[in-house]
Amino acid sequence: MEECPIARIVVISNRVAVPKARGVAGAQGGLAGALNSALKEHGGIWFGWSGAACEEFTGQIDLQRHDGVTTATIDLPEQDVEEYYNGYANSTLWPLFHYRLDLTEYERQTGMGYERVNERLAGSVGPLIEDGDLVWVHDYHLLPLGERLRARGIDNRIGFFLHTPWPPTNLFVSLPFHERLVRTMLAYDLIGFQTETWLESFLHYCRKELGAEVDEASGRISFEGHETLARAYPIGIDFDHVTAQANTEAAREAEERLRDSARGRTAAIGVDRLDYSKGLPERIDGIGRFFDTYPDRVRDLVYIQIAPTSREDVDSYQDIRNMLEQKTGQINGARSEFDIAPIRYVNRGYSLAELCGFYRASKIALVTPLRDGMNLVAKEYIAVQDPEDPGVLVLSRFAGAAQQMDEAVLVNPHSPDDLARAIHTALDMPLEERKRRYEALIKTVRDENIQHWTKTFVSDLEA
Ligand code: G6P
Repeated sequence: MEECPIARIVVISNRVAVPKARGVAGAQGGLAGALNSALKEHGGIWFGWSGAACEEFTGQIDLQRHDGVTTATIDLPEQDVEEYYNGYANSTLWPLFHYRLDLTEYERQTGMGYERVNERLAGSVGPLIEDGDLVWVHDYHLLPLGERLRARGIDNRIGFFLHTPWPPTNLFVSLPFHERLVRTMLAYDLIGFQTETWLESFLHYCRKELGAEVDEASGRISFEGHETLARAYPIGIDFDHVTAQANTEAAREAEERLRDSARGRTAAIGVDRLDYSKGLPERIDGIGRFFDTYPDRVRDLVYIQIAPTSREDVDSYQDIRNMLEQKTGQINGARSEFDIAPIRYVNRGYSLAELCGFYRASKIALVTPLRDGMNLVAKEYIAVQDPEDPGVLVLSRFAGAAQQMDEAVLVNPHSPDDLARAIHTALDMPLEERKRRYEALIKTVRDENIQHWTKTFVSDLEA
């Protein structure tokens, strides 16, 4: 029998992570690794913005091949970066999708820039797409891209995955032209969400606001003669890659340094992009409440917050940075002794290997976003724990990850009392209970990994 050739994949995302950048801290490393391995297996291209600004748009594509994967990137003019990336994507959609109407800006100009850039990206990537290719578009920067490709006559299978939450209908309708945006999304054949909650909100919107025919059980949406399938595909980590990183010399060194510097205190760790969705000031308030309630325990606990800056041209990101610095300073001022400070706040990123070392040296991880599509730090932390002496994951019930990881200590990140109670529980948790929770968590993290995620999405798109 003749073997059926597998389809090429064309991945399209705002940022393109080339293989040589692998190992860079956090979620992006995992996603980049998984997409790179899917691209290696299927062949194909990864297309997106180069991250660089130019004077005028030329549409010139920079094609590169690294380690068996072809990347294709284009530069965008300054005005596009401002309106599309800093503007509509990160000052409108990002806060809205994280339920932050108070931070959501509605500017016609940036909305137009967003549409213009999606059109430009479609125009550039269109000629690279061949018959039979599977096209896989990622994230909120590119919601209308599929429809722009259809307008150019591309009738390939096109799938879309949203890495963020999808907000409830009554928040989403505050977006001017919300209907126009979602109509463009229904040009996709398959739409993936991180969790059932975000999926349900999307289906609810399609039924209530667009009047689409929606089959809730299968996720089938019929609208104006086209069918789209919407499903939840919880993203995982590249388990083998992460655990291999945890066994490197760099990881061992980082682990040792953190342990030595904690000088007998239990280390608790948080690793987050400096983003208001991550609940950082709220977390620091919770830590403050813990020390207020148990002042003696300042000799038992040190909290390390690693928070590389992010999207620094957007005002709300500068505000969150200032607020965090102030709160950390206040608690350290009030609670430090001449030889110890309870909080270490580090404004930079580390390699995945170093982070794995920090995770192993920390007996508690605080992953307490106010809202998060998934959160892969929670999964990385569990992946590298010592099975004989595992640490405790304190996890926000509002992170997508909580829907798979309910054996973590779940918290309401808005409540300093709840956070303080969770830290206390984690600090004193007996070994047996830690092991029991870990064993349940590691199973999900190991089995529902990124390869599983890529495979299920791609095979549904193919089917
Ligand atoms: C989130 C988004 C990604 C984004 C990443 C980093 O995880 O879902 O699409 O790439 O943040 O943000 P940045 O703005 O630096 O790309």
